[in-house]
Amino acid sequence: MAELLPALRGLPPAYLVGGAVRDMLRGAESVDLDIAVEGDAVAVARTLAERLGGEAREHERFGTATVRAGGVTADLATTRRERYERPGALPVVEPAPLADDLVRRDFTINAMAVGLSEDDVGELHDPHGGRTDLESGVVRVLHERSFIDDPTRLLRAVRYEARLGMRMDARTEELARTAAADGALETVSGPRIRDELMDLLRELEAPSALEHARELEIDSALHPSLAAEPELAAAAALGAAETGADRGLAALATLVARAPDELEPWVESLALARAERDAVMAAARHAPGLVRSLQGEVPDSVVHTLLRGEPPETLAVALALGAPGGPIHRYLADLRGVRLEVTGDDLLAAGIPPSPAVGRALEETLRRKLDGEVGGRDEELALAIEVARREEGG
Ligand code: CTP
Repeated sequence: MAELLPALRGLPPAYLVGGAVRDMLRGAESVDLDIAVEGDAVAVARTLAERLGGEAREHERFGTATVRAGGVTADLATTRRERYERPGALPVVEPAPLADDLVRRDFTINAMAVGLSEDDVGELHDPHGGRTDLESGVVRVLHERSFIDDPTRLLRAVRYEARLGMRMDARTEELARTAAADGALETVSGPRIRDELMDLLRELEAPSALEHARELEIDSALHPSLAAEPELAAAAALGAAETGADRGLAALATLVARAPDELEPWVESLALARAERDAVMAAARHAPGLVRSLQGEVPDSVVHTLLRGEPPETLAVALALGAPGGPIHRYLADLRGVRLEVTGDDLLAAGIPPSPAVGRALEETLRRKLDGEVGGRDEELALAIEVARREEGG
């Protein structure tokens, strides 16, 4: 602010808005600085960048810009009014005064602004009682149609409740329950669901958000086969910490694991990055089976075969579902790094002709090495040659 405020002098009125104000009032650090400008935000961004010796990146489609200068990163947008032509669609926007920009927002705690310009510096603009709601821990919508206009707010509401240790007021909760039951979420594109759902699932307090989502039947409103299991998501978060899995993807897999076939098209519709989608589906499909197949005395070579090629999310969800930790930890600490000292070239040099038998011989040798039956390069080579000859012969 010490840098930003002088640089805003003489420019159209600017305000800190949204999460930054909420977090500042809570005494918490805010990651994003969102600045609303009553005027041309892109032009203000250019001037700011110039004055601060930084740069402005313009996002033409949205008439917004990001300024980076020294330690400051701020997103600038023109204050605007929004109109929803269809429930769930992106709104039609037009420039409007600050009051309109605040009234279009999701919850009172996110509908406050702090002046950054001239006489208004430090002034709190709080027309909807956001500060009181923040202090008394209430997540409250600004109007009756809020969840219908933008059903992603259903996911945001339970996320804020969990993250901030707050609770919806009775009316907001009733509106949420009704919007979910009336199919509001069906009007929203997969990618918009993805963005809000992944934000929710990556929260430290995601299990508590899922618990309320389940109670409000937001989970089954996303897809009839989808069932939030808060305890399982909490266990998957622990599993993710143990296995290096992505906590959000592991949690998503727990939502899908009870009915992966029915839910695969829904996962597709989220349009995750391919590797993320594959990790979620692998975890959802394979983790339940691992709970059974890793029980009892399982040779290391079998553990290796079962877990090799699985993303860490599969291991995290398997642990969450109750798979024994021993073999999974052994795999992560040890087995996955085991390599043969001999290679295919060594076998060719020993006179084995190139054929698929070479690969199979190396596989077999690796299995025997994992089970502690061979050690050292000479023994590996002797065994691999023996297996290759036998395979060839067979
Ligand atoms: N907003 C909204 N409705 C949405 C998404 C956003 O009204 N569906 C408004 C809120 O005022 C919110 C602001 O846009 O505070 C910025 O959105 P976002 O970056 O998603 O939220 P933050 O509060 O900044 O960040 P976070 O929730 O991650 O703390």
